[in-house]
Amino acid sequence: MIKSISFDDFNGVRMKKINYRLDKTDKTPLYLQLYQQIRLAIHQQQLHFGDKLPSKRHLSEFLQISQNTVENAYEQLLAEGYINAKARSGFFVSFQAELDFPCDLPRQKQTAYFQSRKTYYDLNPNLIDSKNFPIRQWQKAGKQSLKFWQNEMIALGDKQGDRNLRNEIAHYLYASRGVNCEPEQIVIGTGLENCVLQLILLFNQISEKPIQYAMESYGYITIEKMLTAYGKKVLHLPLTTDGQLDLATLAESQIDVAYLTPSNLYPFSQVLSIGQRQQLLEWANQQPQRYIIEDDYDSEYRYKGKPIPALQSLDVNEKVIYLGSFSKLLMPSLRVGFMVLPKSLLSLYQEYCGFFNCGVSRFEQQRLATFIQQGEFEKHIQRMRKIYRKKMEMLCRLLQSHSDKIRYYGEHSGAYLLIELLKSPHTSTELVERCLQKNIKIYPLNYPNRQLFSIGFADIDEQEFNDVFEKLISILVLK
Ligand SMILES: Cc1ncc(COP(=O)(O)O)c(C=O)c1O
Repeated sequence: MIKSISFDDFNGVRMKKINYRLDKTDKTPLYLQLYQQIRLAIHQQQLHFGDKLPSKRHLSEFLQISQNTVENAYEQLLAEGYINAKARSGFFVSFQAELDFPCDLPRQKQTAYFQSRKTYYDLNPNLIDSKNFPIRQWQKAGKQSLKFWQNEMIALGDKQGDRNLRNEIAHYLYASRGVNCEPEQIVIGTGLENCVLQLILLFNQISEKPIQYAMESYGYITIEKMLTAYGKKVLHLPLTTDGQLDLATLAESQIDVAYLTPSNLYPFSQVLSIGQRQQLLEWANQQPQRYIIEDDYDSEYRYKGKPIPALQSLDVNEKVIYLGSFSKLLMPSLRVGFMVLPKSLLSLYQEYCGFFNCGVSRFEQQRLATFIQQGEFEKHIQRMRKIYRKKMEMLCRLLQSHSDKIRYYGEHSGAYLLIELLKSPHTSTELVERCLQKNIKIYPLNYPNRQLFSIGFADIDEQEFNDVFEKLISILVLK
């Protein structure tokens, strides 16, 4: 039964007017309903700071409910600080709703977070294999970090990132990429763009003239947008016919800083030759303000030959700033990237950028350090290398029978393949649309005079793999 009453005066006691609507048939206990309604009346400022509430006896008689029910509701309000009790006077509102943030807005159900789940096969080259993510080990590393670091983690940590994570990164970089560095040289940031932002500010401060930047002609677009947003001109370095960098253009230019991906040249995934690496380092060494920013994203998974050491490992003149990211190696949403500064830049960095707090939460830093330290990271990389290699082979096999129409590049590394359509009568936009109709999302490259697509296969299950890619190929080769 629903009882809806309003009152402002009862048994001679002056009380505020509130509508009580108690429903005895509802599964919410009566005391909770009463508590919620008084709380709402306080938030909506029907009851103000200092207002007196009816006594338990009065209210129970008035609403015809037990005194216990009123008592339980008042106890809850007391416990949460909405009301206080004054000896021999009664209960008074002790919460100032005018100073409050609105709290009774209808909440979205938690499931709403997951409603955006994709309903299509996403071939974005930046995805990882989400089903093979070592979630148990990751959760375990989180639990351990919480247990041991609770008090520590409340305070802000080292501005360049927690020391033990930087130690782990330094070890890992030396073992896997040949990068030579001390933990002091590492700065952890929220993704590479955060590291590059700091570098732009640093170069602005240390140079008397405006710094000029160069990137590969098809470089990482986010960085190009950032540089442009900061008013920098970006020179595009063309690729030569054999997919290497046109270093003559660099030598003739007024460029100070070259942002490059030497182990994975965009978009054809070429490795910069040792000759070009040496030429680049010589170029940088010719002027004090010249630097190379080496973006080593996606260089870990190689399927043929020996791993290619980073350019930084050849740098004896402290001209290379190395950038690394956990986005592909672990997960993009972690937002952990880092840079390795040459020792000669360290004191300048501390002088001009030392005010930046590390943007990655200490909990995630500790969790990551634990995960690496326990050997889980290395195991994960080795496992994923096998899985991605297998998927890469499956995709190449499917494409081989269409070699007259589709050429591919970059099959020796990474979790995406660059494909080129040789004589498609359709535009890339038409093909994207047709694929979407079959629930497949593909990503074309805006490359002059060539029809290229970056095909990411990381997040496609092995069981569905052949079906998805056969469907894709049949759309791409359609006359
Ligand atoms: C060349 C390159 N570097 C870096 C990144 C991203 O790194 P992060 O997620 O750490 O910002 C990407 C992602 O697309 C990339 O293509």
